[in-house]
Amino acid sequence: MWKIVLFALHLQLLVAPLSASCPIFLTISLSGKSLTDACLEINWGPDCYAPPEWVGIYRQDPSVSNFQPELRIDGIRNRTGKRLTPIKLGKLQFPGGWNRPTARQTTATKYPKGKCLPYYVASYNGNELLTIDCLKIQPNWLAHLKDAANMPLKQLFLPGTHASGAYITNYSKTKSLLIKDYLVAQHFDVWSQLVFGIRYLDLSVGYRYSADSGSESENFWVVNENMFINPVIDVLRDVRRFVELSNEIVVLDFSSFPIGFYKHPEIYSSLYHLIRQELGQVIYERNVSSNEHCANRSFNDLRVLGRQVLLLFPTEELPHPENESVLLCPPWQRFSTSYMNMSQTLDYMRLLFSRKPDSPVQDDGWIFHAVMSIEQALNSHKLQTAKERAAVINPKVNQWLNGPWGLNANVVAMDYFSNTNLIDVAIHANVHKAFLAANDKFVNLEILSRR
Ligand SMILES: *[C@@H]1O[C@H](CO)[C@@H](O)[C@H](O)[C@H]1NC(C)=O
Ligand SMILES: *[C@@H]1O[C@H](CO)[C@@H](O)[C@H](O)[C@H]1NC(C)=O
Ligand SMILES: *[C@@H]1O[C@H](CO)[C@@H](O)[C@H](O)[C@H]1NC(C)=O
Ligand SMILES: *[C@@H]1O[C@H](CO)[C@@H](O)[C@H](O)[C@H]1NC(C)=O
Ligand SMILES: *[C@@H]1O[C@H](CO)[C@@H](O)[C@H](O)[C@H]1NC(C)=O
Ligand SMILES: *[C@@H]1O[C@H](CO)[C@@H](O)[C@H](O)[C@H]1NC(C)=O
Repeated sequence: MWKIVLFALHLQLLVAPLSASCPIFLTISLSGKSLTDACLEINWGPDCYAPPEWVGIYRQDPSVSNFQPELRIDGIRNRTGKRLTPIKLGKLQFPGGWNRPTARQTTATKYPKGKCLPYYVASYNGNELLTIDCLKIQPNWLAHLKDAANMPLKQLFLPGTHASGAYITNYSKTKSLLIKDYLVAQHFDVWSQLVFGIRYLDLSVGYRYSADSGSESENFWVVNENMFINPVIDVLRDVRRFVELSNEIVVLDFSSFPIGFYKHPEIYSSLYHLIRQELGQVIYERNVSSNEHCANRSFNDLRVLGRQVLLLFPTEELPHPENESVLLCPPWQRFSTSYMNMSQTLDYMRLLFSRKPDSPVQDDGWIFHAVMSIEQALNSHKLQTAKERAAVINPKVNQWLNGPWGLNANVVAMDYFSNTNLIDVAIHANVHKAFLAANDKFVNLEILSRR
């Protein structure tokens, strides 16, 4: 009984400062064609039980001075919702040396609490400022969560992307509508995803031999729905530069090999050698003799070794797994909502995230892919683009993870994550998880002393 009361009390104390009476945040809509055309959207909730009189969008921090808003919005009413604004994102620049480096770079400003980009949202009653938030990069969030740093990775909430390498670097160069509308799955390149705070990447790889290739590495491509999108090596180099610059961790999941690998162990081997060549010094080395589970390691374990990439790779496909397996972690369990409608997705999340005894989630790392396939969208009688699909599923899943389910999440991966505040949701859940882990013992002691 005491335990429950104290537990509730601690939860209350912890949660109260995090959730305003009406949380309001900014996201990037999926309406525009290219990223620079994308508009900002204002989101409120979950549980906006005291809506503000008005909300303003600013290009400068409105708490510093009385700037005029770029846009003012009145009449927010429902407990949760979203409204598109006409304000375009334009070209994004990251502060503090966090732009994608073109050459070796050794320092960047540490932003333990994130750094606002020049897009702010503030809510008011009259001229009383109630809340303030911004679009932000969070390149150092994990290192900042001291209490979470010693928890096994399987107990952390790691925000991720699905089809992480399926992005466009140059819209005017990419002519294919098929690629632009249906196969691209992310607004941002892998570098930017990591700078925003993503810590899990999902890669589907294809092999295409070309006599023109200068080297074997040019034959490996990120693929989505069987089309070649970007060179794998670009992704590997982004990951390498990012972990070296930030000291954060990245879980790199080679999840499928749809083209050119079938019955070709030597191609798997060749890909493995490319990964080792690019990332070998930063990939975590597993203790194979104890059959160690990589998800059991903590952020600090990896940081102390200076090996901050966890490589998930199907070991059994390699011709000589016995001498290659130290760098490889066996894949984690994956759960996907690809072929589900929204009500099925909700039921599935209830099954996975409530961690009841009948849950298929085991005590190890696991990945929830919150995505909707083209086929599922077809069932709704209209061929929806990748953005239209993400616009339906992401905000819902994001909202459901804001409650108690977020405390049971491990990896959650989305297409076009930027129409949610998934990274903030994950950070808050991790603060909460670390608090519960640290206070489990404390609460018990307190009960003893009260007796
Ligand atoms: C509130 O929700 C209702 C029903 O979903 C919708 O019709 C209405 O436009 C919403 N109002 C606002 C202000 O978002
Ligand atoms: C994008 O592609 C177009 C057409 O090929 C080219 O003119 C332009 O310079 C490219 N932009 C960048 C930033 O590479
Ligand atoms: C690996 O695990 C074995 C068996 O548990 C143990 O004896 C050994 O010390 C471990 N090696 C390292 C490098 O931790
Ligand atoms: C995970 O770590 C815990 C404590 O560090 C240990 O008791 C457990 O055996 C480990 N499990 C695996 C599968 O490595
Ligand atoms: C890997 O192991 C196999 C047999 O276990 C051996 O024949 C081969 O030479 C080893 N390869 C390397 C690169 O060490
Ligand atoms: C979702 O799919 C299930 C099973 O096919 C079906 O029974 C249900 O009506 C669908 N729900 C919606 C909202 O389309």
